[in-house]
Formats: sequence, C-alpha cells, structure tokens
Amino acid sequence: MKHPQDRPEHDRPPSNVPDEADVIVAGHICLDLIPDLGHAGLAAITVPGALVNVGGAVLSTGGTVANSGLALHRLGIATKLMGKVGDDPFGRLILDALRGHGSGMADGMIVSAGEQSSYSIVISPRGADRIFLHCPGTNDTFQASDVSDESLAGAKLLHFGYPPLMKDMYSNDGRELEKLLARAKAKGLTVSLDMSRPDPDSPAGQVDWRSILKRVLPYVDLYLPSWEETVFMLGANGTGFGTGAGAHTDLNTQTLALMAGQLLDMGAAVVGIKIGEEGLYVRTTGRADRLRQFGAAVPKSLTDWEGRELLVPCFEATVAGTTGAGDSTIAGFLCGLLHGLPLEETMTAAVAVGACSVEALDATSGIVPWPAVVRRIEQGWRRRTPALPMEGWATGTNGGCWIGPYDKHRSNPV
Ligand SMILES: Nc1ncnc2c1ncn2[C@@H]1O[C@H](COP(=O)(O)OP(=O)(O)OP(=O)(O)O)[C@@H](O)[C@H]1O
Ligand SMILES: [Mg+2]
Repeated sequence: MKHPQDRPEHDRPPSNVPDEADVIVAGHICLDLIPDLGHAGLAAITVPGALVNVGGAVLSTGGTVANSGLALHRLGIATKLMGKVGDDPFGRLILDALRGHGSGMADGMIVSAGEQSSYSIVISPRGADRIFLHCPGTNDTFQASDVSDESLAGAKLLHFGYPPLMKDMYSNDGRELEKLLARAKAKGLTVSLDMSRPDPDSPAGQVDWRSILKRVLPYVDLYLPSWEETVFMLGANGTGFGTGAGAHTDLNTQTLALMAGQLLDMGAAVVGIKIGEEGLYVRTTGRADRLRQFGAAVPKSLTDWEGRELLVPCFEATVAGTTGAGDSTIAGFLCGLLHGLPLEETMTAAVAVGACSVEALDATSGIVPWPAVVRRIEQGWRRRTPALPMEGWATGTNGGCWIGPYDKHRSNPV
C-alpha cells in the first residue's frame, strides 16, 4: 500500500479544510484499540489470573463520522465532521487522529465535559472469531440539539449514521432522530442515512425498527443501509422475509426489490442497499414530487433518477481488509451525486471508492482524490461478474450497471 506522501501531488488528499462545508457527517464515532495478541488463542486469554504478554496495539478511529467523513475529505469534498466525544484521554486521541487528516478536521466535533468517549477493544485471538468490548459512551447521549442550526448553515447535505449504536436516537420510537433529520430537511439540506446491524440481544435489537423507519424515512432522501441491516429491520414484525433477530434470507434481486419498495413507500426518495461482494443495489421513487423535495444536493436530471432499479457489481480489487467498506461506498455515492453525475455513474463512483477502501487494511487510507478514481475507471478497471441470478435484468449501456425489471426507463417495466 502506498503512503499518501508517496503519491504524485495530484493524487494526494487535501491537507487543509475549507471553512464552508458542503457535507456534514454526523453521528457515531469511536476509538478502536486493537492489541496484537500474537499466538495467544482464546483459551490462553480466558484463564482467570493469567498474565498474557501481548504486542503493541493499533489505535484507529471508527464509525460513520470517521469512516464516511474522512473518505469524503480524501475524495476532495469539503466535509465537516460532527461526532461527540468526552473531554477524556480517549476523546483527545480521537480528535488528534482527525486533525492528522487536515488541520481543521476536528473543528466541528462536539466535546462534552464529564462524559466518557466511546471506545472498542477488539480482541482477535488466534483461531477464533473477533470479540468486541464496546463502550457506547457519548454516542448514547447524542441529541438533535448537538447539531446546531448554525452548523447546518451553508451545507448541501447531512449524512447521519448509525442510529442503532446511539441510544437517544433509537429510544422513544426514534423521535430524537426524527427531530434532527426533519430540521435539516426544513433548512433545505439533502438528508442521507446509514445504519448498523443492531445486536439482537441488546436494547437496540429489541426496538421496533420498522416503526422507527416509518417515522424518519419521510425526511431521508438517500437511505443507504446494508442487506443484513435491512433484513433485520424489515423482518422485525414478520413480514414474509426474515423474522427479526434470527432473520436470514438468501440475497436475491426479488427480495431486494420488495424491501426497497417498502422503504420507498415509507418516504425515502432513493434507497441504496449495499450487498457486500455483489456491489450496490438502488431503487428510486417513481414520484416526481418526492424527488423535487430532494434538497440542495438535488440531482442534475430528475428524470434520470426517477423510477429506477439498478445494480452495479463491485470493481475487481485485491482485498486487504473490508473495515469501513460500506462507509466508503457511501462516500463515493455522495461524491458522485455532488459532482452532478447521472445515477449509473454515481453508483459506479460508489463501488469504485468501496473497492479503493478494501485495498487497504484500514477504512480510508486506500482512498485517493476523486480525479484519480475517475482516471482508474476510465482506464478500464475490470468489474466483477455478479454471482446472483439476474433473471429479468438487462445489461445497461452506461457504466456496467444492470437494469432491473422495475426500472421505468425499460420498455416494459413491471
Ligand atoms: N471484494 C470486494 N471487492 C470490491 N469491493 C468490495 C468488496 N467487498 C465489498 N466491497 C465494497 O464494499 C461495499 C460493502 O458493502 P457491505 O454490504 O459489506 O456494507 P456494510 O455492511 O455497510 O459494510 P461496513 O461493515 O463497512 O459498514 C460494497 O457495496 C462494495 O462497494
Ligand atoms: Mg455499514
């Protein structure tokens, strides 16, 4: 992996931050501490009273604010980060890490006196699955009022994630989340929302996510969850595909269309479902009046974004690590939208940035500035072939996207 400083100058991420941000990325942020356990397996580290010698620890920031926010910044989009930390050592480490990406990158962060910052200790024993010890800290007390009207002024888009890891956002049927998103919408911003999969055994896994989605999606222009999160949330009330906590439904295009259709009916304008190695599925509203309420980041051509159903496969990549791949894919999507690209090219931007992300071990260091991403696509970057059955779908002429049966631009849509 190349260090940013080794790249030609035009491929380097910006080192300073403009005063006016086009995008505000708000919500979850935490510090990950990942000790190198060396050869120690699960048995060795669970002996009461044992002292286990370990190696150094990697410290990295995680969560929407750090992952999607820094990815946007590296792509060259003027971005303000609004996560919440405490005035404690972990909070200071998070702020320092953000400043390492540009002198003003921590300026929008909220520091709450006397609160504990959020952290995870990631225990990766040899031969066993990873164990996360997660402290939600300040994420649990994040309120709509933490994002002031002044901080929204002048921005085109608010991106928020992940409500399932933020207690005040999912409690009370999501009213606090509704308050924040409705206010951003009323101020004319485009609103984008990402999820995380709730731990079924935690309080977030017990709430009625379908009800929360009904409440908030009328204020969400871009709803960008993953397949697993969507199966969990829409299945919570037993609707025929998945049954909440234990939900499992094999990935297929019919269920994607059904679930996206429900999310559009709840009020979202554009639903993009990340489908891991299969890429990105998008279905958009067929209602021109809903698209016209898209806010300041409105697409250049509304007809191009209306009544669409598309799937874009991933670009080929040598995978070093998939941490933050979904968050980076969202950053690519928002970057394409803000550059006024048609929907197919916006989706191509999304999976291109997603692929850049998986080529590095961490979430964002594989991401290069937007012109370098464009060059790589133009130079014939190969795409993966979908492993999903694509019956009823057509291959598009534009950018390697597949066009679904519900797409209005087809001669005989469903
Ligand atoms: N093997 C791969 N090659 C290229 N791109 C990939 C690969 N795997 C994942 N991606 C990219 O990463 C995205 C990750 O999608 P996924 O469904 O895992 O989202 P997620 O669960 O939200 O991820 P995260 O854990 O980062 O939040 C895909 O849409 C794609 O753009
Ligand atoms: Mg995700």
